[in-house]
Amino acid sequence: MTIEVGILGATGQVGQQFVALLAEHPWFKVTWLGASERSAGKAYRDATAWRLAAQLPDEVARLGVDAATPGRAPKLVFSGLDSSVAGEIEGAFAEAGHIIVSNSRNYRMDTDVPLLIPEVNADHLSLLKAQAMARSWKGRIVTNPNCVVIVYAMALAPLRQFGLKASIITTLQAISGAGYPGVPSWDILGNVIPFIGGGEEQKIETETKKILGAVASRGVEDHPVRISAAVTRVPVHDGHTGSIAVSLDQRPDAGAIAAAWNEFRGRPQELELPSAPAQPIVYLSEENRPQPALDVNRGRGMTVSVGRLRRCTVLDYKFVALGHNTIRGAAGAAILNAELMHREGLL
Ligand SMILES: NC(=O)c1ccc[n+]([C@@H]2O[C@H](COP(=O)([O-])OP(=O)(O)OC[C@H]3O[C@@H](n4cnc5c(N)ncnc54)[C@H](OP(=O)(O)O)[C@@H]3O)[C@@H](O)[C@H]2O)c1
Repeated sequence: MTIEVGILGATGQVGQQFVALLAEHPWFKVTWLGASERSAGKAYRDATAWRLAAQLPDEVARLGVDAATPGRAPKLVFSGLDSSVAGEIEGAFAEAGHIIVSNSRNYRMDTDVPLLIPEVNADHLSLLKAQAMARSWKGRIVTNPNCVVIVYAMALAPLRQFGLKASIITTLQAISGAGYPGVPSWDILGNVIPFIGGGEEQKIETETKKILGAVASRGVEDHPVRISAAVTRVPVHDGHTGSIAVSLDQRPDAGAIAAAWNEFRGRPQELELPSAPAQPIVYLSEENRPQPALDVNRGRGMTVSVGRLRRCTVLDYKFVALGHNTIRGAAGAAILNAELMHREGLL
């Protein structure tokens, strides 16, 4: 069985990661690529500045890039479009009957749009029924969270059982998170920038609560956890790190928390989805881990690494979490979403 797929924003950082991850996918085959008018009409190899260590697959390199207009693409389309244009373009594709599995922020917080991490909230796909009723679209839109939110929400999800009350996160985010060419080298080399545009801190505070929340009659009821986020950009290629503190209602010992992370599993593992890591969260007991240089590719970039769990004198515990921002935080996340939708009969 082969399912043809398209990629909107195929020439960007996330688009390239889609191309690389789908190269040997057992179900999905890339047959259509869309980007801006700057790229339309060119062969993909000429339209994109390939940045990945993985080889650009020949059959995709030869494909022509199309304009980002609906009609010629297959039904299932992944999107890594720049958010300045994603709202309009993804809406037009959904209206025309395409299923858009998007990385962009534009629809994430809409009450009838699933903001999905399949291990954490696979049941949020039930929002698609409300989406079908509320919109005139023949197709659908499903989204994955902001790249650092995925890492954070996965690390927090197993802590809900201990009565998660409040959390503070300071992020150290990689330059690949800013697209290509991204942050100028003069600004980032030997430096830390204590600001990321596009409402990054607000996204962490709002998206995380939706993801950890429960489906109710009018969309998702946010998880009550109080969150305070501060973001920084650091000179790391790939891998967003978060220094996180949590306050919990219960008083679990550190062993119980580490076990909750290590034993955490979800629908993707149950269904043995092709992109599902065997272990979605790994607790590393070494005192100097996780590190982007050593741990970012764990589980083919789909596993979140957690470490340095210790008591916090202000909240209850503090720890460090790390995940690959363009794989688990973007293209790999969207592919896992589509795999889940396929197995749930939603494609
Ligand atoms: N990088 C990450 O870690 C990450 C993680 C999660 C989510 N995201 C989100 O994913 C999206 C893509 O991010 P990125 O880092 O891949 O950005 P990027 O490298 O700047 O790529 C942007 C893509 O959008 C296309 N595009 C721009 N303007 C367009 C237009 N007017 N019409 C059609 N296509 C247009 C570009 O095509 P051209 O090459 O033709 O200009 C390119 O393919 C963003 O919404 C971002 O917030 C990124």
